[in-house]
Amino acid sequence: MHIQSPKGTRDMLPKDSFLWQWIEHTMRKEAALASYLEIRTPVFEYTELFERGVGDTTDIVQKEMYTFLDKGDRSITLKPEGTAGAVRALIENKLYAEPLPVKMYYLNNPIFRYENPQHGRLREHHQFGMECFGVKGPTADAEVIMTVLRILNQLGLRNLSVKINSIGCPVCRPSYHEALRAYLKAHFDELCPQCKERYDRNPLRVLDCKEKSCQVIARNAPSILDHLCEECDTHFEGLQQLLNARQVPISIDPQIVRGLDYYTKTVFEIIMQSPRGEMALCGGGRYDGLVKEIGGPDMPGVGFGIGTERIILELQNQGIEAPTREITTVFIASLGEEGRMPAYQLCMDLRVAGIKADFDHMNRSLKAQFRYADKLGVPYMVIAGGDELQRGTVKIKEMKTGDEKEIPLAEAVSTIKAIITQDQ
Ligand code: HAM
Repeated sequence: MHIQSPKGTRDMLPKDSFLWQWIEHTMRKEAALASYLEIRTPVFEYTELFERGVGDTTDIVQKEMYTFLDKGDRSITLKPEGTAGAVRALIENKLYAEPLPVKMYYLNNPIFRYENPQHGRLREHHQFGMECFGVKGPTADAEVIMTVLRILNQLGLRNLSVKINSIGCPVCRPSYHEALRAYLKAHFDELCPQCKERYDRNPLRVLDCKEKSCQVIARNAPSILDHLCEECDTHFEGLQQLLNARQVPISIDPQIVRGLDYYTKTVFEIIMQSPRGEMALCGGGRYDGLVKEIGGPDMPGVGFGIGTERIILELQNQGIEAPTREITTVFIASLGEEGRMPAYQLCMDLRVAGIKADFDHMNRSLKAQFRYADKLGVPYMVIAGGDELQRGTVKIKEMKTGDEKEIPLAEAVSTIKAIITQDQ
């Protein structure tokens, strides 16, 4: 039987590794510049964490989780997002007692959602995310937004739109829900079946429904921004000031409500274009009630998640390639049987000296070894064998210029190192 990868999953192939590592390097660098440290949490958690954390009215919890009973009959779920696990770890390890704020990031966390796979939508994707705990004011919101924008900028991505909104807090949201329900009631029959259910449980989600009929209704819905309490309003104003002060081109979009229940106050998305219209490249926001909800102290939090596969799609859209990196710097070709052991020894010595070196495993002819190295774009070839080897020397050839030099085998490592360094 021909076994394929499960639907909605992708391999990262060796040829793509430079691209992934370039993105990862950029993320790590920018996170470190903003004083965030890495956290790694398990790929699976007890299901209850996500039911409580992400919210049982969300599509993620209702329809998309990979949930199963383990051999001990415990309900386990593969991580459907990164924030709940980070919050669980914060509480379990009492990180909240450390000097505040607690700033952490996760890099290419595998995330599992049982979605209908399509362009940009996978069942396993990888997220970079940042979470900042303990800051009530909007400086933390601005910091995480500025950092993800720096990452995208460093990768060369341009023309992305940043949409921000505030969805209020437990003080002001109930009155908005009331106003929204009153408006939606008049259009109830035109709502899609799912939004009819949302009407009672979570009417805010009607605003970002992808169904055309619901979108038309959402367009004229009352705006949450007219219902914010003073605290939420001041917070939102403050965030805009901080972003404007750095000339971030933001647009305020009261229809950004996000698909997870834990958000309070700030929500934001960075949008890219896809063949099916707009798609979120990054999403995040503030979750001031989540730490307490999961059993920790009353501690605010704010963060975002960004999908690496979507970054790669957008890099392709914008025609951006990863900076090329050499796979092998020196290939040690062997001429004849007697050249094999010296080639192998020299290769190992060059690796010890920190030089990317390779040799022939395939018993190829000298000509075929050159062809192979040429395909890999190796800049230097060393040839071990023939008369030179009899004389205790090897030949080094710079592929770009064709220049050749005979060097003593006993000093080959230091001489090759000197040649490479000089040429750089
Ligand atoms: P999210 O908006 O559900 O937020 O996901 C964040 C990002 O993950 C999306 O913007 C997108 O790039 C990527 N993504 C989501 N679903 C898929 C999929 N099926 N296939 C490919 N990529 C996908 C969260 O998960 C929140 N935990 C973000 C957050 C962190 N908020 C505060 N802190």
